[in-house]
Amino acid sequence: MNPRVCFVIPTYNESENITLLLGRLTDLYPDANTLFLVVDDESPDGTGELVRRFSADDKRVHLLQGRKRGLGAAYVRGIMHAMDSLDADVVVQMDADFSHDPADAGRLLARVATDADADMAIGSRYVAGGAVDETWGFRRRQLSLWGNRLARWIAGLKGVRDCTAGFKAIRTTALRETGVAEIRVLGYAFQVALLHRLLHSGARVVEEPIYFRDRERGVTKLGLDSMLEFMYHIWWLRLTSHRTFIKFCVTGTSGVFINLGSFHLLMQLGVHRYLASPIAIELSIISNFLINNYWTFAERNLAGRKRIRGLKFNVVSLLSLALSYGTFLALSLLLPRAAPLWLQGLAIVPAVLVNYFLNSYWTFRDAKRN
Ligand code: GDD
Ligand code: MN
Repeated sequence: MNPRVCFVIPTYNESENITLLLGRLTDLYPDANTLFLVVDDESPDGTGELVRRFSADDKRVHLLQGRKRGLGAAYVRGIMHAMDSLDADVVVQMDADFSHDPADAGRLLARVATDADADMAIGSRYVAGGAVDETWGFRRRQLSLWGNRLARWIAGLKGVRDCTAGFKAIRTTALRETGVAEIRVLGYAFQVALLHRLLHSGARVVEEPIYFRDRERGVTKLGLDSMLEFMYHIWWLRLTSHRTFIKFCVTGTSGVFINLGSFHLLMQLGVHRYLASPIAIELSIISNFLINNYWTFAERNLAGRKRIRGLKFNVVSLLSLALSYGTFLALSLLLPRAAPLWLQGLAIVPAVLVNYFLNSYWTFRDAKRN
């Protein structure tokens, strides 16, 4: 049997389009195993009622109603329903306003059905053969182009030309792995959020050229709030994918305070600087390990047993200690007049980098990402 395909179509006030669209889609894709789920947000123009009427004659058409929170929220709801209640193998995302040509969906479906390498096929405006409506003015073109570029550069979406596309066919195996339900964005930023997740979970993405036609009926819902959320969200994606490094820096900073604090204290107590230095370094290494283990790398699926990790950590620590103490000794000899606290501080720098890479890729290596 053919895979079960479910078109997920979000609508808000699309009464002028929805009946026409469902008519086109059900004609083009007559397979009994192809379903059409309209995700309406209680449109005041009665879109939902039109869908209900259509579904009375064609049982493949489904309606999911909900409170209006935005395009992204509607997609999360719709995709979850398609997977959990309608048992879909492949989901097709598309707009209801005919900007996405219903006939193009077949090409997207073919890519994820036959091309074993593709988990998602994007209907792309920005690959060779793709285009946006020629009536688009300069401003609109630039807005779309730059939205795309910024998403690609800031959120780090390598290898994809149309990052904000709303027309795609996606295998639900890939969707399940990404955790769609956890996407919290409300508006258009959903497209980027989903793409980011899919790429990070290792999904294979291909692009098929499409022509994006301007809507002829009804009005666009892309508002300023959506654009602001988009700008904020692409930065958020960048930040969170570097979250581990940020936590590591915070931990390191606390280590600097512990190191310099105890060094200062030991010197005050009359301990010689050549003994105070390694003790202070060691104290900060221990505190760093504990914080890294229980906080920085806590989310990782840590490889190997804790005892081995402790052993690896000790090796890394010894290396860091040697590096830091060596630097301190060298600096003390080179700059005998400089305040010891400054030298102790400077000596941390080379150790930090070596420490991060060894800990991240060896001690706290993520078993899943290898
Ligand atoms: N349920 C629901 N709730 N549907 C919504 C909402 C909402 O809050 N907002 C918009 N929609 C529906 C519309 O009814 C339409 O079917 C589809 O989502 C796209 O909305 P448009 O308002 O037509 O979007 P657009 O043409 O400006 O944006 C298109 O291009 C963007 C990239 O340039 C879409 O394809 C976007 O997904 C895409 O990111
Ligand atoms: Mn549109």
